[in-house]
Amino acid sequence: MMRKLSYLALTAAIGCSAMAHADERTEQFIQSLTELGFPAPKANELVHIPPGIDKLEEAEIHPELKRVIRRGHDLFINTQQLRGKNVFNGMQCSSCHLGDGRMPFSAPTWPAAVTLPDFRGKNGHVNSLEERIAGCFSFSMNGKPPEYGSDDMLALTAYHRWMASGVPMYPKQPIYGRGYPAPERPKELSYARGKDAFEQNCAICHGADGSGLQRDGKTIFPATWGDLSNNWGAGIVRVFTAAGFIKNNMPLGQPNSLSDQEAWDIAYYISSQERPQDPRYTGDVADTLERYGPTFHRHSMYGQKRESDGHLLGDHANTGEKGFLKPDTLRPRTFE
Ligand code: HEC
Ligand code: HEC
Repeated sequence: MMRKLSYLALTAAIGCSAMAHADERTEQFIQSLTELGFPAPKANELVHIPPGIDKLEEAEIHPELKRVIRRGHDLFINTQQLRGKNVFNGMQCSSCHLGDGRMPFSAPTWPAAVTLPDFRGKNGHVNSLEERIAGCFSFSMNGKPPEYGSDDMLALTAYHRWMASGVPMYPKQPIYGRGYPAPERPKELSYARGKDAFEQNCAICHGADGSGLQRDGKTIFPATWGDLSNNWGAGIVRVFTAAGFIKNNMPLGQPNSLSDQEAWDIAYYISSQERPQDPRYTGDVADTLERYGPTFHRHSMYGQKRESDGHLLGDHANTGEKGFLKPDTLRPRTFE
């Protein structure tokens, strides 16, 4: 009950419309988070409360920019409008980035707007904000990103920039609540315990078969695995990322209610289920693992045998709902 109330308070603090003094707002914001079991910011961390969409109207920016930001926000929370064009699963951006991309410890997406361009280990070159967004389209949405420079891409970047309003470019301080920080990995992970805990705490919304809930073509609860979920190349297939996401955000509305062991066991269980192929697949799972193991798959279950039945994970050519493997936007850069 206490947690539920704090969660509501946090939502209110994030969207706070009162004219509270900035320091006071920050204090309230941090208090709501610590009441929910999140750590308080360290002395050197940058704390930013991104504006909510309800603040857009009063912002002193050009009305046309407001219209574009609004469009970006709409694409972020209803990404399914691009289904069959850019999105080939049942996800919204907001399925993994809670609070419209503003929630701390739920990989708030605005930090990308102030830290890019920068080098990214996942693809080994310097990425722009557009390319970072394109990455989530290619892997998390099992899709094909909108063209660079297109109206939809501009709208999404404008929304990200706006959420980061007031934060200096390339901040020197680490950003409080960035990513999905994972609790320490317990000594042993158990598939059986993970399955039990998933069925008890998660299946009511996500289904015991992980397919979530779709109604009239709308996603009510996203799929945690299977064809309607993210593909094998998505960041959340790394077991520690899934554990961090789950501990901090699930069950919905009850962050930090699972023990660290439960969060990791469930992450291990979910990560041991099938999903659409990694777009970087070379035609052979062992070869793909060798190529992308060092930068990525050493943290996932891809190419490993499932503990329960020995099934070799990722050994298939299923691309889910899309009729192609690799979007043409996924390419190296050389600057030569
Ligand atoms: C299946 C879950 C999932 C979905 C859906 C998803 N993302 Fe992500 N996103 C992630 C993960 C995982 C990360 C990496 C977080 C980390 O650093 O640990 C990430 C990171 C990001 C970042 C970088 C944040 C930073 O700190 O720099 C941006 C920007 C982003 N996503 C945008 C989007 C957009 C836009 C969409 C919709 C088109 C989207 N994401 C959909 C899982 C998802
Ligand atoms: C009350 C319903 C509900 C419960 C219970 C619940 N979730 Fe979720 N979950 C959601 C919703 C809704 C989202 C998408 C976020 C949003 O739209 O606000 C989500 C998103 C997710 C995602 C990211 C998107 C995806 O489908 O991969 C994962 C992973 C996830 N939940 C795992 C879990 C786990 C593990 C549990 C149990 C510990 C759990 N959820 C319990 C409703 C629920």
